Amino acid sequence: MQPESAPAARVKRSLPELTHPAAPLVMVTAYDYPGARHAEAAGVDLILVGDSLGNVVLGYDSTAPVTLADMIHHGKAARRGAPNTFLVVDLPFGTYHTGVTDAMRSAVRVIQDTGADAVKMEGSTPEVLDVVRVLSRNGIPVMGHVGLMPQTAAAQGGLRVQGKDDDSARRTLEGALALQEAGAFAVVLEAIPARLARLISERLDIATIGIGAGVHCDGQVLVYHDLLGLYEGEEKKIAKRYADLGRESREAIARYAAEVRAREFPSKEHSFVMKDEVLDKLY
Ligand code: KIV
Repeated sequence: MQPESAPAARVKRSLPELTHPAAPLVMVTAYDYPGARHAEAAGVDLILVGDSLGNVVLGYDSTAPVTLADMIHHGKAARRGAPNTFLVVDLPFGTYHTGVTDAMRSAVRVIQDTGADAVKMEGSTPEVLDVVRVLSRNGIPVMGHVGLMPQTAAAQGGLRVQGKDDDSARRTLEGALALQEAGAFAVVLEAIPARLARLISERLDIATIGIGAGVHCDGQVLVYHDLLGLYEGEEKKIAKRYADLGRESREAIARYAAEVRAREFPSKEHSFVMKDEVLDKLY
């Protein structure tokens, strides 16, 4: 019998289980060791090292400046924190747009250096579909991403809901179907109407993972900092705050500062003692 304190061995979800899930999939982003540890301990199905890293961790105002080196650095840390969770790493802007060979090279670096199980990329242009096809055929699982695509949001009229008019709704549906056909194992649907996401989820055989796409997707994803209230930007419709750790963090640091200034910290409890005779010899 296992001693009571031994943590239950966690079994990483397999690719077939994630492609055709029996229950709603839970995905959360993480960018470092502690965040990934928390996510794994909470029992999520997938962790995404998203290029939202640029906004919530690196302080950029878009994801465009995020580099492959940034993703690898943070992907490695996340993997160390969550060795037993299916880990997806975003390919950042510009690292899969200059041809299939370059894209393959980027993906191989991510997989080899971070130990990720899959990569994610945005879009469903013919060029991106070629990349998805080649990567999938060569054993690199790919998660697609349609709807709002932050890497190229400027071309979509800004960070706004997609799929509301005829053109955009059809493009989103056809894009998701084309990604499936190219070999993607799952597709993120970001910021599209719930009824469109439902239709796409019904039409697709592979998993859909929604963010701002209603409850009928096969899974949901949230950004760690949004979920925990760590990102102080304006509240987004597509996210729900389950905690207010930003406020707790500010208040804790302010209490620490007040105690330092009042010489209350460190107290005896946090200080080391020595024998009088050792000290006396120094006077
Ligand atoms: O970068 C990211 O965090 C994402 C999710 C919002 C899906 O792409």
